[in-house]
Amino acid sequence: MIRTPFPVLTADEAAGLIQDGQTLGFSGFTAAGSAKVIPAALARRATREHAAGRPFRVGVLTGASTGRSLDGALAEAHAISFRMPYQSNSTLRRQINDGEVKFIDTHLSSMQQKLRYGFLGRPIDWAVVEASDVTRGGGIVLTTSVGASNTYLRLADKVLIELNARHPASMLGLHDIFEPQDPPARQEIAIYSPSDRIGSPICVVDPAKIVGVVMTDLADETKDFEPATAVTEQIGWHIADFLVAEMRAGRIPSDFLPLQSGVGNVANSVLAALGEHPDVPSFTMYTEVLQDSVVPLLESGRCRFASTCALALSPDMMKHVVDNIAFFKSRIVLRPQEVTNHPEVVRRLGVVSMNTAIEVDIGGNVNSTHFFGKTLMNGIGGSGDFTRNAYLSIFSCPSTAKGGAISSIVPLAAHMDHNEHSVQVVVTERGVADLRGRDPSERAQLIIENCAHPDYQPQLRDYLRLIKAGGHEPLSLSLGLAMHRQFLRHGDMRNIDWEEFR
Ligand code: COA
Repeated sequence: MIRTPFPVLTADEAAGLIQDGQTLGFSGFTAAGSAKVIPAALARRATREHAAGRPFRVGVLTGASTGRSLDGALAEAHAISFRMPYQSNSTLRRQINDGEVKFIDTHLSSMQQKLRYGFLGRPIDWAVVEASDVTRGGGIVLTTSVGASNTYLRLADKVLIELNARHPASMLGLHDIFEPQDPPARQEIAIYSPSDRIGSPICVVDPAKIVGVVMTDLADETKDFEPATAVTEQIGWHIADFLVAEMRAGRIPSDFLPLQSGVGNVANSVLAALGEHPDVPSFTMYTEVLQDSVVPLLESGRCRFASTCALALSPDMMKHVVDNIAFFKSRIVLRPQEVTNHPEVVRRLGVVSMNTAIEVDIGGNVNSTHFFGKTLMNGIGGSGDFTRNAYLSIFSCPSTAKGGAISSIVPLAAHMDHNEHSVQVVVTERGVADLRGRDPSERAQLIIENCAHPDYQPQLRDYLRLIKAGGHEPLSLSLGLAMHRQFLRHGDMRNIDWEEFR
């Protein structure tokens, strides 16, 4: 049992202190390091309050998505009033799309400063943070992520700690906690290489704010990845081949540039392919999540160092890392999200960003967040932070979705998260469209010919022929969203009759 100088509470006692309408800043960036037992107890409390006819909902702030005991349990108990900055839980997603929960989709790099600037317009009542150690003086060693916890701990009126014995106190030294000053006093973030350390290994909080500690011994609620498919493997190899060609052309130095890789199954396959490619040199990462595929690369030396905000590893892989924490501490640093995703650092280091799209339009605009322009999937996360500032920004996705009934390459994206000014390279399993130095009509042809699925290439070529000549962008106001409308009408984007939508 870990000792603590603070009052030890049960999770239900801790949850009992939280009031309806309050705003809570939780630890958690993916399921990594998410608070677990207090939100689960809060969900039970909300269910009891609702059964007694009393309202009980709280505002939930986190680093990014979380585990099932946080977003999952609170959403199932209808206990969330508003949510920032990112989520990926299916129940919560439904409530957001039904209008039950207000969701403010936010660039992850700007979350902490928005809170410091007071842009949220309300105080943070509680920080609820998972820790591997807490000292009498208020020193807190975080666990498998940093997220925005350092800011929540500092700004919140009161603090509750989940002290998790699953993560040894030897995690001390894994984290690098740094919070920039606010303008006009802000100075540079002095990171010149992914392994540079600029802060403290611990968060420090006024001990008088720590109301209680709940003892736990629980693994992160991460899920196993889907096995790679032929399509995701092909995407990975296209990206690896492209980066090798860039290196041979002298546009990427021979010791490579730091890589950022996004979330999800495609991103996991991309990293695996980069690790296996014989001509990709060993590399570093400056990213916000480390997924399973990077761990063997760190062990083999293919990945020399990884700077990240979270260890979003499957349960077995996390156990392996914790069991070998001394080895990984010398190769991994965990930073706050405003540092991992900071535009200044991303641009200085020359990060190559690799993120996943829901759809890409032939003008080079990317939708990462909303199906048919309307229905939220997860949120923009860090994809905008990296894409806008990357040395080279790459988006990939399978060329079709839903068994081929949806083309990921469309005339006009129904929602735009990343625009043509920031998106440089598009990759599907069909190939690579390098948009750099191309005008809008060249881009449209490259995306159709190199990335669209053959089932959709003829109708996309027809679209280009149908739209009137002239103008700078390949756009028809009447037909731009016709493929989306065709799917909603007929359940399949294929074989469109453009005349039906004129
Ligand atoms: N229209 C409708 N549905 C589509 C679609 C499209 N154009 N493209 C994909 N989908 C569906 C898939 O069918 C799948 O649904 P299912 O689970 O019901 O089959 C779902 O979207 C997810 O697709 P999948 O291929 O599993 O994607 P992924 O796990 O690689 O994640 C994103 C892709 C875009 C959802 C994910 O990367 C994301 O949320 N990105 C935004 C945040 C981000 O990039 N963060 C990283 C910064 S470091």
